Amino acid sequence: MSLLNELRSRFATALAEYGDEVPGLLEMIRVAQDPKFGDFQANFAMSLSKKVGKPPRDIATTVCQKLDVSDLCETPEVAGPGFINLRFRDSLLAARVSSIVGDDRLGVSPVKHPRHVVVDFSSPNVAKPMHVGHLRSTVIGDAICRTLRFAGHQVTSDNHIGDWGTQFGMIIYGYRNFVNMDAYRAAPVAELARLYKLVNQLSDYHATKAKLPQLKAALEGLNQQRVALKATENADPKKYQKAENQLVKQIDSAREAVESAEKTLAVVESDEHLSSLAAAHPTIARLARDETARLHAGDASNQALWDEFLPECLKALQVIYDRLGIQFDLTLGESFYNPMLPSVVETLAEKGLARSSDGAQCVFIEGNTAPFIVQKSDGAYTYATTDLATIRYRRDELKANEILYVVDNRQSEHFQLLFSTAALWGYDDMTFRHVSFGTVMDRNGKPYKTRAGDTVGLESLIDEAINRSRPIVNENDDRREVKLLNDSERAAVAEIVAVGGIKYADLHHNRDSDYVFDWDKMLATTGDTAAAIQYAYARICGIFRKLQISRSEIADSHAHVLITCPEERALCLQLLQFEFAIENVLYEYRPHLLTAWLYETSDRFSKFYDRCSVQDAETDELRQSRLILCDLIARGLKTGLSLLGIETADVM
Ligand code: ARG
Repeated sequence: MSLLNELRSRFATALAEYGDEVPGLLEMIRVAQDPKFGDFQANFAMSLSKKVGKPPRDIATTVCQKLDVSDLCETPEVAGPGFINLRFRDSLLAARVSSIVGDDRLGVSPVKHPRHVVVDFSSPNVAKPMHVGHLRSTVIGDAICRTLRFAGHQVTSDNHIGDWGTQFGMIIYGYRNFVNMDAYRAAPVAELARLYKLVNQLSDYHATKAKLPQLKAALEGLNQQRVALKATENADPKKYQKAENQLVKQIDSAREAVESAEKTLAVVESDEHLSSLAAAHPTIARLARDETARLHAGDASNQALWDEFLPECLKALQVIYDRLGIQFDLTLGESFYNPMLPSVVETLAEKGLARSSDGAQCVFIEGNTAPFIVQKSDGAYTYATTDLATIRYRRDELKANEILYVVDNRQSEHFQLLFSTAALWGYDDMTFRHVSFGTVMDRNGKPYKTRAGDTVGLESLIDEAINRSRPIVNENDDRREVKLLNDSERAAVAEIVAVGGIKYADLHHNRDSDYVFDWDKMLATTGDTAAAIQYAYARICGIFRKLQISRSEIADSHAHVLITCPEERALCLQLLQFEFAIENVLYEYRPHLLTAWLYETSDRFSKFYDRCSVQDAETDELRQSRLILCDLIARGLKTGLSLLGIETADVM
């Protein structure tokens, strides 16, 4: 049990008289903001005071009298309006840290009640190259899987790839009409991606062309409204100004819509080849949809193309996963569930959950205006139907009791409807959670794209990161009198820094927020970055190397940890907080709570190392103790990074 939870359980006894309130009160025991006040601080007395009608200081004093923490803490202090300040005994911290020497788990015991959690993550739509938008799900999902496993849960990672959607119809149409066979033979996935893009572009062209007159009319209408409004200016200038401002905003966005439509058309029309293709394929969007429908209906020639394309697409994905060090237990894409879809709709209908609306089969969930469509009027099943089949499979076949969906926040309505439907359908014994996240942005606050306006491919992103990390690694080693790395070792370190940097930059933000993609911050060797923590780790390895002491010898030495100064104490406390960091990550599946621990740990380590000499410690015992601390910190950094899927190198 983490230190904080140990404290909380002691408080639970002392607070017993408050019954149902207790869990809420325990939440109010937290790490002290300022170490001046101790290690932890409880501030529930203030909120209890209103309810009980007693001064908070009196409440705090009474709780302290009942509280038995003498084996853990110095005598608790009541401070200010009624804070309870708690400070762990140095002897306790030293003993606890001594007891985890040599332990990679830093004393974290496996959970008492393991769950079987399916983590549905990455899940790209195949046949389009994987881009930066897929990065977040992949990296966050992987970190969650690793952390759950470390905590002792059973985890099944499942890449629920989109391999059955409308993009296949587009590719099939593209292949039949536009394929360049030489290019396809040389690099199938690149050619399929080109076909996808082309069909998309031509469909978009015709849709935009059809829509443009309406967009123009809307703009014209707004401009006329503005002229009419001008006539009211003198009657009520204030009211006029407000309406005018609003109108100007609407006009701006209508103009933007017209301009962007015109640009879409111009790109095609200014290119002779593209415009002749557009002219030759006026109903391309519908024809591509028909190809998807034929595939779903079992058409043999479309199925044969799908069978040919899919393995190539999967191979291309695997290249990225290998480079990122991501593994899945299962890759059950949408197509896997295709045969199960009719029975999903049947059983929903039998239970009276699905009913016909405008020819479609829909589930209506109270409090939601949007229906959950499980079969369209043309008979096609949907993303929703597949997700319901997936839930059934995961519970009935995999015997899972929890499912996490690591998917961006634009799909939150879908998941809300999915979870409600599943519960009514009979899956109310499972826990579902949408682990949602925001968008990767550029510096101007727009979704991160290439200069040409395409999404940024993951392959090129990794390559670019390596191009940038390599000089950093070279420079670092070049500064040494005796170089420690040969060329291939430098390349390996550069890759570890690059991939670690990409992952950490993503993970250290609260997943709910959008974040700005910034190469310089990502690979910086100081601050809250992977490189800084990887360097701290390598620095500790360097300490041992220079002293010619093996870390495992230290770990096996049975020596005790001594606390002789605040920096040592701060390190010990931090090591013992590792367990709490893990619990915290898993509470709401937020990996940034682990990056925060790593950053704080490396920061405390550098303060310790600046202040406390290891080699010239006053006594042998103290030297030994400090070496133990160094080793434990290295273990903590390495283990913590590994839970985020980030590697370390002993020499950097
Ligand atoms: N393929 C989907 C997309 O790219 C994400 C799938 C997420 N998982 C799920 N079970 N719905 O939007």
